[in-house]
Amino acid sequence: MTLNTQTDPLRILIASSHPLFAQGINSLLKKRPEMDTEVVGIVSTINEALVALKNLQPDLVIVDYDDDRVNREEFLARFVEGEGRLRVVLFSLKEGGDEAIVYDRRTMAASQIEDWLEGWSDSEEKSSQIPAEPDQDQVVPKRRDSMKHFIVAGLLVIVLMAGSFFLFTNIELLPDQASAQAIPIDELFRFDFIAILVLFSLIIGFMVYSIIVFRRRKGDDTDGPHIEGNSKLEVVWTLIPLFFVMFLAYYGSSVLGKTLAADPKPLRVDVIGSQWSWRFEYPEYGIISTDLVLPVNKQALLNISSTDVIHSFWVPEFRVKQDALPGEGFERELRVTPIETGEYKVRCAELCGKNHYDMLAPVRVLSQSDFDGWVQSQTGPVSDDPVERGEIFAQQFGCSACHSSDGSQLVGPTWLGVFGSTEMLEDGSSMVVDRDYLFKSVRNPGIQIVAGYQNIMPENIAANMTDEQIDDLIAFIESLK
Ligand code: CUA
Repeated sequence: MTLNTQTDPLRILIASSHPLFAQGINSLLKKRPEMDTEVVGIVSTINEALVALKNLQPDLVIVDYDDDRVNREEFLARFVEGEGRLRVVLFSLKEGGDEAIVYDRRTMAASQIEDWLEGWSDSEEKSSQIPAEPDQDQVVPKRRDSMKHFIVAGLLVIVLMAGSFFLFTNIELLPDQASAQAIPIDELFRFDFIAILVLFSLIIGFMVYSIIVFRRRKGDDTDGPHIEGNSKLEVVWTLIPLFFVMFLAYYGSSVLGKTLAADPKPLRVDVIGSQWSWRFEYPEYGIISTDLVLPVNKQALLNISSTDVIHSFWVPEFRVKQDALPGEGFERELRVTPIETGEYKVRCAELCGKNHYDMLAPVRVLSQSDFDGWVQSQTGPVSDDPVERGEIFAQQFGCSACHSSDGSQLVGPTWLGVFGSTEMLEDGSSMVVDRDYLFKSVRNPGIQIVAGYQNIMPENIAANMTDEQIDDLIAFIESLK
């Protein structure tokens, strides 16, 4: 049992019934010659350990954490809390990795581990004073060096901050600011971005510095230093972000409040999204339009809905965005006060199927007098030609998003020459395209599908069309021979 009785080195007693554990500890200690240690014995029961305690006088007991036959609670109780006051540490040698020592802190008080680690580093210092063969690569960084590290890494952080701030202020990240709602949103965005930029520089600066300066050198296979928690630091780095995030929540909700602020007399526009077109209805004027036309400096109250799937109404220059949801009672409101005349585009910001990318509509912000002129032109006498009216309805109700009038191939059959033709249906039958068939197909798109096409026309696309409007539409289709 006795291996050595010298008094100088840290005397270690191993408690394990498994011979491989002692071998593992031995080979690990051999790899760290700078640690002046000596395994003085191996025991597997508490009684053997008590005998060894008298005879061998170990300074430290290493208990095999994974050995069920060694009662580690008893070891801790007898040697740590008992009269012996001996240092005990629980080790686990992980499978395969002869470098991986895990000592288990759960079953030891922090002060006890601390004692043991002090002994560990004492012996390290002892060995470094011996001029025999100091390994240059393994010199432990001294405290005065850490100040130098902080200064250099701090400079790197400042350079990163300055660089990213320069980029942020010189790259045009945002499109024109064309609505009153965009102003507080952009202020919030700017504040967030600068906060992110500071955090980014801090994290990346210190990380990059550490990766380069503290990288593993060739031949160095020592473990990193063990660092205990620092309660003060942890409290500080919890409280600062907590207050910061609370401030952001307050700031964000105050901006949200500003974007929702309601004018007493807004211009009301119903916005209806369909696969894949937008329709704009002005109930005050009885106008249906494929363009969103708004007077400048007057709040528009958009009442947004969808006939089929979820779309999203988004004009980047206005900043605000709102989903268009299908179904009764799911209309959503959005307030926009344009502050710049000009031409913009509604984009659909929700993936809604094949032609999502093309679900665009023009937006024109006009002076009040130009807007009045536009209203005049839209509410003038309606054409008395059903074909002309039908062509307008085809645009307004979004039919032309899927059915071309010139023979070009979209997701639905083209209307050019379709009237009077004989079409093969999906079920193999064929039929002549007449008024009756077209009317039924508008009202109930899924009933008869032309072979080669998918049943993707929204069920209720024509819910807002009157029978007369459908008649006009068919007159238009009939004219496309
Ligand atoms: Cu509608 Cu994407």
